[in-house]
Amino acid sequence: MGILGMNQVLALAVFKVLFSMNTVHGIGANWGTQSSHLLPPPIVVKLLRDNGIQKLKLFDAEASVLRALSGSGIEVMVGIPNEMLASLANSVDAAERWVEKNVSTYVSSNSVDIRYVAVGNEPFLQSSNGSFIGTTFPALKNIQAALIKAGLGSRVRVTIPLNADVYQSSTENPSTGDFRPEIRDLMVQIASFLSLNGGIFTVNIYPFISLYKDPNFPVDYAFFDGYSSPINDNGRIYTNVFDANYDTLVWALQKNGFGNLTTVVGEIGWPTDGDRNANIAFAQRFNQGFISHMNVGTPMKPGPLDVYLFSLIDEDAKSIQPGNFERHWGIFKYDGTPKYNLSLGSNNNGLIPASNVEYLSRRWCVLSSSANPQDPQLGPSVTYACENADCTSLGYGTSCSNLDAQGNASYAFNSYYQRNNQLDSACRFPNLSVVTTSDPSVGTCKFNIMIRSTNPASSGFSLEPSIGFVQVLLFLLALFEVV
Ligand SMILES: *[C@@H]1O[C@H](CO)[C@@H](O)[C@H](O)[C@H]1NC(C)=O
Ligand SMILES: *[C@@H]1O[C@H](CO)[C@@H](O)[C@H](O)[C@H]1NC(C)=O
Ligand SMILES: *[C@@H]1O[C@H](CO)[C@@H](O)[C@H](O)[C@H]1NC(C)=O
Ligand SMILES: *[C@@H]1O[C@H](CO)[C@@H](O)[C@H](O)[C@H]1NC(C)=O
Ligand SMILES: *[C@@H]1O[C@H](CO)[C@@H](O)[C@H](O)[C@H]1NC(C)=O
Ligand SMILES: *[C@@H]1O[C@H](CO)[C@@H](O)[C@H](O)[C@H]1NC(C)=O
Repeated sequence: MGILGMNQVLALAVFKVLFSMNTVHGIGANWGTQSSHLLPPPIVVKLLRDNGIQKLKLFDAEASVLRALSGSGIEVMVGIPNEMLASLANSVDAAERWVEKNVSTYVSSNSVDIRYVAVGNEPFLQSSNGSFIGTTFPALKNIQAALIKAGLGSRVRVTIPLNADVYQSSTENPSTGDFRPEIRDLMVQIASFLSLNGGIFTVNIYPFISLYKDPNFPVDYAFFDGYSSPINDNGRIYTNVFDANYDTLVWALQKNGFGNLTTVVGEIGWPTDGDRNANIAFAQRFNQGFISHMNVGTPMKPGPLDVYLFSLIDEDAKSIQPGNFERHWGIFKYDGTPKYNLSLGSNNNGLIPASNVEYLSRRWCVLSSSANPQDPQLGPSVTYACENADCTSLGYGTSCSNLDAQGNASYAFNSYYQRNNQLDSACRFPNLSVVTTSDPSVGTCKFNIMIRSTNPASSGFSLEPSIGFVQVLLFLLALFEVV
């Protein structure tokens, strides 16, 4: 202490305060970017800060996103997509390049607070048919070695976000939990490696899926506000499936000798559309219940849990292979407006919307009033629009279940029109569609206006080469002439 000047002491004190703030069990969120029109990363970073979300989990390491996080003070988990696992497993060089490009640079020159690298995303999911069983652990080892080599071994920790389907229980009692037999040896090796290297165990738990998959699942057991037939596991009382699921993992880890491995909940949440159980009321009930509950912990692990909500913002370009609800997990809509009141703990006035979001014009594409309902092109046109845009808010139990067949067609046409940035040519379903300036939304069914986005992936429809391309071409031609 004696050799430090007053300024250093002050700086140290400030640093300690900041540091301890960062290590508080604050709430985290997942930001997936599979959107046709991505909210600009700087707007999303402000959204996170305005709402007191201190930790962000990403599924990749996109430069524009990481640059926006520079100096934000937000703790970041960067991710490695499953498709990259094979190359990282097979090449130490590739792992070192990944760490250099996607971690070291941002930590050292851009002051992005990267704390974790997620190696793969639910790579052992049963529906992945074992595709990543052989590559995930070798990739984890190579990334850990690369982090150590880059001097980041003590600062950045590795993990593998796993679906809760890596473990199971033989009865409804969590104490009968263990890892799935066919991957048990692998899970033990991974848990051992994480333990030895200061890594963490990340698990994604989905009570919504329990309800979605099993029509007989007791609805109240999915939530946190009382279930009339709790499970009694040798004196431990389970009133919600989250606790039971989490503690099944705690038992599985304990039985295999890793009871002390730090565990975080990598994904937890509830979707708001696309299924009869996916709605605003259930999502609010679940998420608000969970946020209060996360400070209490589970019977086996009392005390605050580390969690990342799934998810921050809806992603309209996600695969709907799991179900139509898959594009509706956000606590915010595609444009950063809150879907419902949620207190994240830091303030009690509900969520704060994104600011400075730019929208396209107030125009919609709908079924023309003069369209013939028997037009043979109507069906195929709606199908085409839905396949190339997003109709997951249509159908039984959804926000637009109140629409008739004409309303459905309008919804589909508008979704396609907005997806394609309101191009005139995207509202030319012959004899069927027309552009309108009056909002066709009815009740819960919202006909969205798309946001302006700089996302290069959002220009799917563009027929003309961009100005930039033309300019480069002209420049090259000019160059040619001169030579
Ligand atoms: C860094 O991450 C990005 C985004 O996930 C990926 O496309 C790129 O290949 C990675 N860089 C290296 C050198 O692996
Ligand atoms: C897994 O196998 C099933 C059935 O053969 C198939 O439908 C599915 O597409 C496969 N999934 C992956 C990720 O390969
Ligand atoms: C787990 O942590 C507790 C408390 O710190 C300690 O007493 C115990 O020995 C640890 N167990 C293992 C398996 O490391
Ligand atoms: C959210 O909660 C606040 C305060 O409790 C209330 O004034 C407001 O009307 C609520 N908003 C919505 C959309 O329910
Ligand atoms: C509207 O579309 C949805 C989804 O395709 C379908 O399930 C529903 O039956 C349609 N409604 C009518 C009235 O055609
Ligand atoms: C549009 O309707 C007109 C008259 O109803 C018909 O002659 C024409 O073939 C239709 N066009 C298309 C592309 O279906």
